[in-house]
Amino acid sequence: MHSCCCRSTLLLLLLYITAAVHQASAFHTNNQATSMMSSAKKQKLNDDDDDKQSLHEIRVGFIGCGTIASAIATSLAKPEHEEYLSEAGLSLSTISVTKRSASKSSKLKEDFPHVVSVYESAEEVVRNSDLVFLCLLPQQVDEMLSELKEKGTWNNGRHTLVSLVSTSKVEDLIAKTSLPTNRVFKMICLPPISNREGCALLTPPASSENGHPYLKKMFDALGGVVECPTDEIMSSMMVPTGLMGTMYGIMKNNRDWLINKGVSPSDASYFVARSYLSMVQDAERDCRDPKRFDDLIEEQTPGGLNEQALKNQEKQGVFDAYDKSMDAVLSRIQGKSDGSLP
Ligand SMILES: NC(=O)c1ccc[n+]([C@@H]2O[C@H](COP(=O)([O-])OP(=O)(O)OC[C@H]3O[C@@H](n4cnc5c(N)ncnc54)[C@H](OP(=O)(O)O)[C@@H]3O)[C@@H](O)[C@H]2O)c1
Repeated sequence: MHSCCCRSTLLLLLLYITAAVHQASAFHTNNQATSMMSSAKKQKLNDDDDDKQSLHEIRVGFIGCGTIASAIATSLAKPEHEEYLSEAGLSLSTISVTKRSASKSSKLKEDFPHVVSVYESAEEVVRNSDLVFLCLLPQQVDEMLSELKEKGTWNNGRHTLVSLVSTSKVEDLIAKTSLPTNRVFKMICLPPISNREGCALLTPPASSENGHPYLKKMFDALGGVVECPTDEIMSSMMVPTGLMGTMYGIMKNNRDWLINKGVSPSDASYFVARSYLSMVQDAERDCRDPKRFDDLIEEQTPGGLNEQALKNQEKQGVFDAYDKSMDAVLSRIQGKSDGSLP
């Protein structure tokens, strides 16, 4: 009885020691894991700091703060776009804007108080920026550029000028600023750039040898950019941006046709917009592939409604008329005609 009691006491003691050792080692492992996690976390924080330090900091300025300046500034300043810029190796430091239009510059300041500064003069904007966007109306450009040149505002080693003015010629801008050739560009984009939508056009190509260190990366991060080798190519690329009215016209025509067939105006509008959205989204997938649109047409059911409608429109000369209207838009952009067709 006695030896049995002793044995069970020993057994209990052994169990206790085993449990204690196990617990101690689990505590050690947990502690080790906690300390490993915190050092990994610390490492991550350090990496983030290093990454931030290795980002190219950019001070951006806008001369003229109207519709397009506000859209680009908004896209650069939006906190949700920061990760796209940092993936491109860029970090926005400041945005300086001229006061006019006061309603738009004060709205930018209100929306992004920590990065936006509003200045009375274009000279102050240029002096506080490295990358300057010219966003004036064509008739305001010459006076502004000669004023800035007279005041010796441009710094050859620091400034990059990007003109959004469609009539700008890069050679003229170089002559009127004396900036180096690889620091002067012309760009076209539309207001949806504020949401990283659409696609900018840029000439001359910024990513060429001896080109610009970050301009292409910046606009890729803000939705996409196509570099145009020449001004002529850029003019042709501008034509589809002048066909928004045509696209809305087709949608309006579809809506009205449905209303004439007895569909409620609200349902017709909703259905047409949602259907076209899905078609455009489908076309946008893999759109770097130049055969994307052909493939989508090819995928249509042989002998089906879509294939037949397209053939009917081709036979009716719809696409010939479309080509003629695109040629007319181009000839207006090139200043060769007023763009109207008989
Ligand atoms: N809107 C677009 O979708 C778009 C797209 C691509 C390119 N663009 C081109 O971009 C340029 C600007 O277009 P926008 O639509 O943005 O025109 P906007 O809204 O009229 O902007 C022009 C801005 O310049 C300001 N301004 C005029 N003179 C000034 C001066 N001396 N100093 C400082 N600011 C001055 C105007 O201020 P006030 O209002 O006080 O006069 C206005 O805020 C145009 O050349 C246009 O062709 C526009």
